[in-house]
Amino acid sequence: MSSVVAERDSVPNMKLSRAATSCESPSLGQIRQSDGGMPKVAGDEQPPPDHHVISIEPRRLPFVLYFSNLTYSVNVSRKMTLPSLLRRQHSLHAAERPLSGENATGTKILLNEISGEARDGEILAVLGASGSGKSTLIDALANRMAQGSLKGTVTLNGEALESRLMKVISAYVMQDDLLFPMLTVEETLVFAAEFRLPRTLSKSKKKMRVHALIDQLGLRKAAKTVIGDEGHRGVSGGERRRVSIGIDIIHDPIILFLDEPTSGLDSTSAFMVVKVLQGIAQSGSIVMMSVHQPTYRILGLLDRLILLSRGQTVFSGSPMDLPSFFSDFGHPMPENENKTEFALDFIHELEGSSGGTKSLVEFNKTWQSTKRTRNPETPTQNLSLKESITASVSRGKLVSGATNNDASSTSMVPDFANPFLFEIAVLSKRSMTNSSRMPELFGVQLGAILVTGLILATVFWRLDHSPRGLQERLGFFAFAMSTTYYTCSEALPVFLQERYIFMRETAQNSYRRYSYVVSRSLTAIPALIFLSAVFAAITFWSVGLSGGVSGFLFYFLVILASFWAGSSFVTFLSGVVPHVMLGYTIAVAILAYFLLFSGFFINHDRIPLYWIWFHYISLVKYPYEAVLQNEFNDPNKCFVRGIQIFDTTPLVEVPVALKVKLLESISSTLGTNISSTTCVTTGIDILQKQGVTDLSIWNCLWITVAWGFFFRILFYFSLLLGNKNKRS
Ligand SMILES: Nc1ncnc2c1ncn2[C@@H]1O[C@H](COP(=O)(O)OP(=O)(O)O)[C@@H](O)[C@H]1O
Ligand SMILES: [Mg+2]
Repeated sequence: MSSVVAERDSVPNMKLSRAATSCESPSLGQIRQSDGGMPKVAGDEQPPPDHHVISIEPRRLPFVLYFSNLTYSVNVSRKMTLPSLLRRQHSLHAAERPLSGENATGTKILLNEISGEARDGEILAVLGASGSGKSTLIDALANRMAQGSLKGTVTLNGEALESRLMKVISAYVMQDDLLFPMLTVEETLVFAAEFRLPRTLSKSKKKMRVHALIDQLGLRKAAKTVIGDEGHRGVSGGERRRVSIGIDIIHDPIILFLDEPTSGLDSTSAFMVVKVLQGIAQSGSIVMMSVHQPTYRILGLLDRLILLSRGQTVFSGSPMDLPSFFSDFGHPMPENENKTEFALDFIHELEGSSGGTKSLVEFNKTWQSTKRTRNPETPTQNLSLKESITASVSRGKLVSGATNNDASSTSMVPDFANPFLFEIAVLSKRSMTNSSRMPELFGVQLGAILVTGLILATVFWRLDHSPRGLQERLGFFAFAMSTTYYTCSEALPVFLQERYIFMRETAQNSYRRYSYVVSRSLTAIPALIFLSAVFAAITFWSVGLSGGVSGFLFYFLVILASFWAGSSFVTFLSGVVPHVMLGYTIAVAILAYFLLFSGFFINHDRIPLYWIWFHYISLVKYPYEAVLQNEFNDPNKCFVRGIQIFDTTPLVEVPVALKVKLLESISSTLGTNISSTTCVTTGIDILQKQGVTDLSIWNCLWITVAWGFFFRILFYFSLLLGNKNKRS
């Protein structure tokens, strides 16, 4: 790691000008203009002329993010009693009271009138002990709170920020690294580029952008290493964090929010991360991050600080101002002390004292106003938001669009960089890559099918055409059809694992939700076909099912359809349940009910009327009836012949001669002639007895397939409604 630092630090003229910085890793604008090949390195060649223009131009501050009086409170009433619900009405004005922590009405103020500003080219850091409200403030600014719950204003260049525009021009890097463990660093960034860079950018240019980013993030050495997780060795924590940042900044956003990007990293890795962030800021972005406790070296990279204590600002300004601030307050900093350490410890002490941090909060307010009168900020010629964005885009920022320059600033950049077919292709490719790196998952599924198939094949080996064989046949079908559903529950953890990645990616408009649903369905199908074929082949001939080749093909189709319906059902469940264990419990219970109401255990005319609806929604009913018809739909096939009539009665023990006599007397009583070879029950009779009369064989198949589509659609709605990725 340290060698990487040295390498980067030794890049000549790195801090000379913004143009020089951007030469270090070419901006998207440069990539777009260049005609393929590798990015040029600083000093290699004369910089292109337009760079001189940018560096000579006076600094015009194209972007100023201004926020004032941000207030946010939550209800912490633990018991949902009627009084506590009524009290919710009051929480509105309780939030306005300058009171920190929990108050009498059960609201907790997490942010209390926070104001400040951030400019492009600078890093604004939010500091504070844990629990002081840093993440809350970053969420508030990044528009990650539900409308209405946050009070105060956030403006960019004086204009209120619309949620849609914010989504397009900003990026938010979560505190946790949500990455696919089996993809390499480069693959991860390439997929991010495929999603977020427009299709108009050629493949080679996307590749160039990824390579430039890898260099900018200092990840050259780790590019071919997999991300890794608990079970697999992968890149280091600092590298992983930089990959997380990389996927969010692949499109070169104007505003970048990061929640504790340095936490959990050693000081060198942390410094590397902030150094990278400085480079991003200097390329013309606003960078806002929360940081728990910056080291001395990191502090040197920060341009503005906001110090929070229990949701209130106790200091805001440049890190250089910290010593004078505290000495003005009457507590000068010792010379050789770490400034932030001193400040945080001091605030912590105040929090424990009787008066709390109130005095410091008040002092900060007066200090701010005197500072403002002492050196008023030179009025800067701010551009309008639209002009600034256009200017930025023409310099290569925000590459996700900017093709249509019409009137409103929101329509300048499209919501999604790519059409949905392209998204489906990329998503499917990624999911294939992931599964090919983890073949054991499919292996387990195949193993389950093999074992179940072999057990069934041996238990129901070559069933005969007798009344007992008939019963066993029915049992085999009921069990086989529900087994297909049970073996689908593997789909459950897949989405639960991916959910947070999905939430992050859809929150940043990487792709449409329905692209994800379609791609999930498409990538599932090849495995389902293979598993169905294996299961059908193992069981069909060994059990002795009828119908020959066409019977087998239909049997295979029914199994495939029920696999499809089952995996759709489980996928839908994974969209609504929060935990794997809960998901399994629900899935197993519901599948058991499906089996109970399938018509095998109880005929549908015997099911109580108030339960009959369950019979019709039972996913097992339709494939079960389909295979029954496939097997028994033959008037010439006989299952009970002559004296076999007694096989399922207590008279089965009687000697054969007696049975023949009994049959004769039954015949004479009924006035028919039933000899010992007369067929008493044909396949059609069995279907009738089982109540399988209402749907034709193909309708059963189509309905099963339709259930699959229905649950996929429900899955889509569950993604739409849940997984909002915002605070309430
Ligand atoms: N939904 C909530 N209900 C009650 N308290 C909350 C809720 N969300 C956050 N908090 C509290 O708000 C405070 C600030 O949280 P946070 O912004 O995550 O702090 P930080 O990021 O500085 O560690 C913490 O004390 C936390 O416990
Ligand atoms: Mg936090």
